[in-house]
Amino acid sequence: AILASSLTSVSVAASSNWGIEDDYTASWSRQQAEKVALTEETTAPIIDMDFEDVAPDVWVWDTWPLQNRDGSLANVKGYRIAFALVAPRTYTWHDRHTEARIGMFYSKNGKDWTYAGIPYDYDNALGHMQWAGSAMLDEKGKVHFFYTATTDMNANGGKEFNKDGWVQRAEQRLAKTTFDISADKNGVHLTNEGDHQILLEADGHHYETIEQFQEHGNIITGFRDPFFFKDPNTGEEYIIWEGQAGTNRNDIKPENIGDKEYRETHTVPDRAEFYNGNIGIAKVLDNDVTELELLPPLLESVGVNHQLERPHVVVKGDTYYLLTISHEFTFAPGLSGPDGLYGFVGEGSLRTDYKPVNGTGLVVANPAEKPFQAYSWWAAPDGQVISFINEPLDENGQVQFGGTFAPTLKVSFNGDKTKIVKEMEAGEIKPFGPYGRSLR
Ligand code: FRU
Repeated sequence: AILASSLTSVSVAASSNWGIEDDYTASWSRQQAEKVALTEETTAPIIDMDFEDVAPDVWVWDTWPLQNRDGSLANVKGYRIAFALVAPRTYTWHDRHTEARIGMFYSKNGKDWTYAGIPYDYDNALGHMQWAGSAMLDEKGKVHFFYTATTDMNANGGKEFNKDGWVQRAEQRLAKTTFDISADKNGVHLTNEGDHQILLEADGHHYETIEQFQEHGNIITGFRDPFFFKDPNTGEEYIIWEGQAGTNRNDIKPENIGDKEYRETHTVPDRAEFYNGNIGIAKVLDNDVTELELLPPLLESVGVNHQLERPHVVVKGDTYYLLTISHEFTFAPGLSGPDGLYGFVGEGSLRTDYKPVNGTGLVVANPAEKPFQAYSWWAAPDGQVISFINEPLDENGQVQFGGTFAPTLKVSFNGDKTKIVKEMEAGEIKPFGPYGRSLR
């Protein structure tokens, strides 16, 4: 028995990846998160303050392109298509989240975008508002439109008090509908809107429910931002999202702290246990992406960071990059980091022992002098990174509200290193292939 168990532990130590259904979740540890720092390779250039509003009547934030099933950029009769969260500018910048819908944009050259309005009947859509998602065009020409159905954050006065303090109640579920798509000289049209259906809800075991959160929670809970992803190495399909740890949601495990030596001297500050972000995953079981099998999270940051938002994946050969956006204010006590795109790299399979890229974990960070200039970075399979202009400071140090597409960045991914190699135009999306290839 001794021999058998030592053999098992040897083989586990030697392999860094697991089957997707295995109960292994990588951790972002406090020790690793202490290394978060701005570097030249990962700090975004300062955005010019004379930016244009892509859609002057609406605030525009989280953005994602229409992708084919294999991840490449969809091309519909020469048009590229993007979706973004929108809210009328009659709402304040800060109220926009509470009235968010998903708008459609199209462009022939990938730089000059036309705002085409909200493509669905929002009386039929689920949730009081619709938060971020992803969109996939299948081989039969159906658009699969994934989004977050979120309840009214202002209901009953919006905020509520639990024993941990004030929290924001907003229940989120993963939802979808479908459309047919066509294009002509007047632009792109989504028609034949399908039923709206709930795909997944938090299970209370791997993923925190709103009831668990109300009993014991922090800031806001998350079960949102469904991202459709086909693994180019296995052909399997997944939905990946931002979650919160469930049953063990306030358990800081040794691996959330660091290695043995670090743990001997590190004291975890009070309340760090309430910062319990994770990245959820479910396996897609059918071609229409309606049946999903919930799996244990890919990564968790209990005791480290509360929000791992809009997670998505870039694959290069056998190397997997798990990418997520996070905020300065969601780091647990005793830790700090900028609003940025964070990345974790692992080898061999999608479920792997992810480690922060670049040693710091940062892929794109806002510059120190403009800490909130952009947000919600999303990397295409070829490393083009889109985002929106958030709250840049003007020359007088006053906060301005953006609400439009930020300049696209091109990021290179090499082993455990990444680097911003180019700044492109605002909202620019060049055609990209499925497996990290750039297309012309
Ligand atoms: C990121 C985000 C998403 C969410 C949306 C709500 O910017 O917090 O996680 O879907 O914004 O507005």
